[in-house]
Amino acid sequence: MRRIGVLTSGGDAPGMNACIRAVVRAGLDRGVEVVGLRRGFAGLLDGDADVLDRSGIVNIIHRGGTILGTSREPRMLTRSGRADAIAELERLEIEGVVMIGGDGTFRAAAILEDEGGPPTVGVPATIDNDIVGTDRALGFDTAVNTAVEAIDRVRDTAQSHELLHFVEVMGRKCGAIALASGLAGGAEAILTPELPMDDDAVADEIAAEMLAGKRSVIVVVAEGARPDGTADAARRIGERLHLDHRVTILGYVQRGGVPSASDRILGAMLGVEAIHALIDGDRGVFVGERAGSIVRAPYAAVADGAVPALDPELIETAALLA
Ligand code: F6P
Repeated sequence: MRRIGVLTSGGDAPGMNACIRAVVRAGLDRGVEVVGLRRGFAGLLDGDADVLDRSGIVNIIHRGGTILGTSREPRMLTRSGRADAIAELERLEIEGVVMIGGDGTFRAAAILEDEGGPPTVGVPATIDNDIVGTDRALGFDTAVNTAVEAIDRVRDTAQSHELLHFVEVMGRKCGAIALASGLAGGAEAILTPELPMDDDAVADEIAAEMLAGKRSVIVVVAEGARPDGTADAARRIGERLHLDHRVTILGYVQRGGVPSASDRILGAMLGVEAIHALIDGDRGVFVGERAGSIVRAPYAAVADGAVPALDPELIETAALLA
């Protein structure tokens, strides 16, 4: 293999740059030239690409976002769009591609291979941590730390005013950020899509907390836990309890920011492994981490869009300590 591409696709995630750096350095170490494809699949389709040498990846390990840019590209959902992407890879003489992104990126990568494209290797990167086949995705640890810092700040004001607070975190259909940040932030209740809890049950739980002497109550809500929105649910629960309440929606602050050491290390490990997998001639795989080891898993694991189950020990511990 003489020339490979690397792209980032879908929502950006802290740690993507550490991974790009690792892909370039590990590639050069094995005598492979690395081409950076800009703006994800959108840039690939537009032929927006440049060779990345060592100078192109200097001082990026600590930076959030992705130096390559990213996109959610609808043309990849069509057969003709994918044919154009394959033609562009051929024109650029790219013999394999490292695709850093989420499960949507992996599904596109799998179809590209099936339709005659070059081998690809996926690297899981999404703050949602919703990829079956890997315990961790790049960006999750940083996003959880950002959410915990925000919850700690809300706690100060909640305690001072003796108010009920709701903090909404990201995660799409997955409650992993909510569970981890809620546990670390000492939330009185954690609402996730995986463990449905109706408004009455939440109100009862909060009432019990207050009876037990709690002066401040924080409910961490995964964005997918209340399809009609956190604000409406908070209003209903507040009315049931006759309590004034406040809502904080953390939003995109969770996606940006300096990557944690853990995300940088994971980015480095997965980037190197992705290069090794491509050079080994693997097809149809992504790299990930299972039980502390770096592994290769088939794209088939994410084919049906299922979300991995939340860690039962974390659920139990959070429930016990709430
Ligand atoms: O997948 C990452 C994520 O930040 C989700 O948590 C969130 O639901 C979504 O992306 C937001 O998507 P967009 O960037 O398209 O607004």
